[in-house]
Amino acid sequence: MAKRTTQFVCQSCGAVSSRWVGKCEACGAWNSFVEEVGGGTTIGSAVFGQKGRPMRKGRVVPLVELSGEIAQTPRLESGIAELDRVTGGGFVRGSALLVGGDPGIGKSTLLIQAAATLARKGARVVYVSGEEAVAQVRLRAERLGLSDAPVALAAETSVEDILTTLADGPVPDLVVIDSIQTLWTEVVESGPGTVTQVRTAAQAMVRYAKESGATVVLVGHVTKDGSIAGPRVVEHMVDAVLYFEGDGARHFRVLRSVKNRFGPTDEIGVFEMTGGGLREVPNPSELFMGERDGSSAGAAVFAGMEGTRPMLVEIQALVAPTSLGTPRRAVVGWDNSRLAMILAVLEAHCGVRFGQHDVYLAVAGGLRIQEPAADLAVAAALVSSLAGAPLGHDCVYFGEVSLSGAVRPVAHAAARLKEAEKLGFVRAVGPKLANGEAPNGLKRAAVAQLVDLVTRIAADGAGGAPRREQRG
Ligand code: TYD
Ligand code: MG
Repeated sequence: MAKRTTQFVCQSCGAVSSRWVGKCEACGAWNSFVEEVGGGTTIGSAVFGQKGRPMRKGRVVPLVELSGEIAQTPRLESGIAELDRVTGGGFVRGSALLVGGDPGIGKSTLLIQAAATLARKGARVVYVSGEEAVAQVRLRAERLGLSDAPVALAAETSVEDILTTLADGPVPDLVVIDSIQTLWTEVVESGPGTVTQVRTAAQAMVRYAKESGATVVLVGHVTKDGSIAGPRVVEHMVDAVLYFEGDGARHFRVLRSVKNRFGPTDEIGVFEMTGGGLREVPNPSELFMGERDGSSAGAAVFAGMEGTRPMLVEIQALVAPTSLGTPRRAVVGWDNSRLAMILAVLEAHCGVRFGQHDVYLAVAGGLRIQEPAADLAVAAALVSSLAGAPLGHDCVYFGEVSLSGAVRPVAHAAARLKEAEKLGFVRAVGPKLANGEAPNGLKRAAVAQLVDLVTRIAADGAGGAPRREQRG
C-alpha cells in the first residue's frame, strides 16, 4: 500500500515542499503554502518503480503520420465575433481553454452567451456549473433572453460524475466547466480548491477533451489573497489561456489571449456589460477616446494596434510641481519603466526637465497598452501637460522612441492612419513612412527626432513653450 504522505504545496504556483515555508522559492508568493495529503508528485513515483522502470506493463501506442484524415471542421465558431477573434477563428475541437478573470467580471455571462449561441446553431453544448444552482443559471439565461437555447445544463462538482455524464450520449461539441476551482476528484485527498485538486481535475478534463474531440472551456477565478488555488497551475496544461479583464468601475471588458496553441496571442475582444449581458464592441476606438474637446493640455490620441485591429486610444498626462523630495511617478495602463525611459530621453535629448514635477500617466478607459509605438503619444501628452499647451482635437500620434532620441517607424502605419481618418482626425504625427505605405487624406507630419516633436508642441501651443535648458 502506498504510504500516506503529507506535504506543503504553494497555492499560487504548485511548488512542493516537505515543510512549511513562509515564502515560495519558485514564484515568490508569501504565505502561500498549505498542507496537503498525498500530492501530485507521487504520481511519477507510482508509475515508475525504483530504477525508473514502469511498474505496470504498458501497451503499444499506435504511432501515426503527420498527415491524415480530419473528420470534422477543425473549428467551432461561436458566432460571437469578438470571442472568435481572440480564439483565432473559433474553438478548436479537442482543445482545452482556460478563461480566467476576477470574480464578477463576467466570465459566466460570456460563456453562457457563447454556449447558447452555439446551441442555437445546432451544436451539442453542455454547461456544468459548480458555483451556481440550476435555478440561478436559468435565471441568468432568462435575463439574457437565452432560455430557449438547447443547452444541456447541470450543477455538479464531482469530476467522476461529470465524466460519466459526458460519456453517456453523443460527444458534445462544447463543454463549459464553471469553475475549475469547484471541481473535486476522489483520486486525491486534498480539499476542493487546493492546487492538487485543481490540477488533477484540470488534467482529467484536458484528457477528456483530447480523447473525445470536444472543446472544453474551464473557467478559473484569479484571486489575490491565495485562499483558492489560482488557475496559474492550469495554464501550462491547456491549449489556450484567455483572460477576461476590465475596470471594475466601467462597463467594458477586454478578452485577451495570453497563450494560444492555435492562434495569435495579440488579439483582444472588446465587450460592454449591459443590463442584457455582454454586448460586442466592434469599433472600440470610440470607447477608448473619452470625452474629447481638445482644449485641455496633457491629452494625446495614440493611433495604436491591438493585434490586427487598429485602435485609437487617448493618453492622458498630468505633470504638476512636486512638494516631495522625490517626485511621484504613477502610471495606469502602461509600463512604469517605459515611462521612466521616455522621461529620461526628454530630459537628456530635448532638455525638458521633470525633476521638480510629479508625473501621472493614464490610458483612457482603463485599457492596457503594451506597444512601444505609444512612446510618441506619451511624450506628446507629457510635454503638452508640462507646457500647458493643448494638442488640439484633430491630431493622432504614433512612433517608437529610442534611447538616442530618434523616432522609429512602427508596423502597420497605413492601418493606423486609415483608422484615424475614419474617425475624423485630420493630422497625424509620426515617424517617416517606409516605402510602400501609402499616404492618405491625413495631413502628415514626420518627426525624425523626439526634439522635433517638442519644438512643434512649443510652437503650436497657446500656453507657451516648455521650459528648455541649454545642454553642455
Ligand atoms: P458573472 O458572469 O457572474 O461574473 P463571473 O462569472 O466572472 O464571476 O457576472 C457578474 C456581474 O455581471 C455582476 O456584477 C452583474 C453583471 N451583469 C450585468 O451587468 N448584466 C447582466 O446581464 C448580467 C448577466 C450580469
Ligand atoms: Mg461565474
